[in-house]
Amino acid sequence: MGLDIIDSHAHYDDKKFDDDRDAVIASLFESGDISAVINVGCDVATSKRSVEFTEKYPNFYAWVGIHPEECGKIDDPDAALAGIEAMLSHPRVVGIGEIGLDFYWDDPARDIQERWFRAQMEMAKRSGKPVAIHDRDAHGKCMEVVCDYPGVRGIFHSYSGSAEMARDLVRRGWYISFSGVVTFKNAPKVREVAEAVPLERMLIETDCPYLSPEPMRGRRNDSRNLVYTSARLAEIKGMDHAEFCRAVSDNARKLLGI
Ligand code: NI
Repeated sequence: MGLDIIDSHAHYDDKKFDDDRDAVIASLFESGDISAVINVGCDVATSKRSVEFTEKYPNFYAWVGIHPEECGKIDDPDAALAGIEAMLSHPRVVGIGEIGLDFYWDDPARDIQERWFRAQMEMAKRSGKPVAIHDRDAHGKCMEVVCDYPGVRGIFHSYSGSAEMARDLVRRGWYISFSGVVTFKNAPKVREVAEAVPLERMLIETDCPYLSPEPMRGRRNDSRNLVYTSARLAEIKGMDHAEFCRAVSDNARKLLGI
């Protein structure tokens, strides 16, 4: 038996997989280490694509949602939100993502991003589904929005905030997801967060094709590289590698109902 790894956040719809998508996805499951992959939408089209993947590829699930960097490009917000909400009834759709705030580029404007974030948090509240949150350089505001929806739960994906904020999120019932960044030499803060977050609230992800862990850093990422990410996290937690993977995958199954 291989390891038991669930990739909680992947973008196999990305154009970097256009030349060899079917082959890469088939190869993910050859070693027996990868149990499931959750592909994540960033707009209506990629959310639909994520749902299609669940029908085409075994062991695939989907997040559907509007990413903060995409929300400024949408002509008919009501139709887009209704489209996302309709997809939630698909049996392989686990929740709403990725949603949130990205203040790195400030494009679209912060108030527009916040409006979309809140509209999708409302959707989560109505549907009872978990959310996958993208928070880049917007920790304070993300926390504020999350606190306005105490009934909504989910994941902070490729978490980049402080250990203190992570502890606060955990107290409020949230999960923290770690990507390949935890293996980077220049990311001691993320390892500090991994020490602070209890095992039962940890998840792992690739965010592929981006964020390849060491020793694959700089190359196109895929779910197989979670072997490296999980090994580093197991080491931080002082745990056996296989035991760590099983525990974290059980967290994903519990939160996402898969
Ligand atoms: Ni992503």
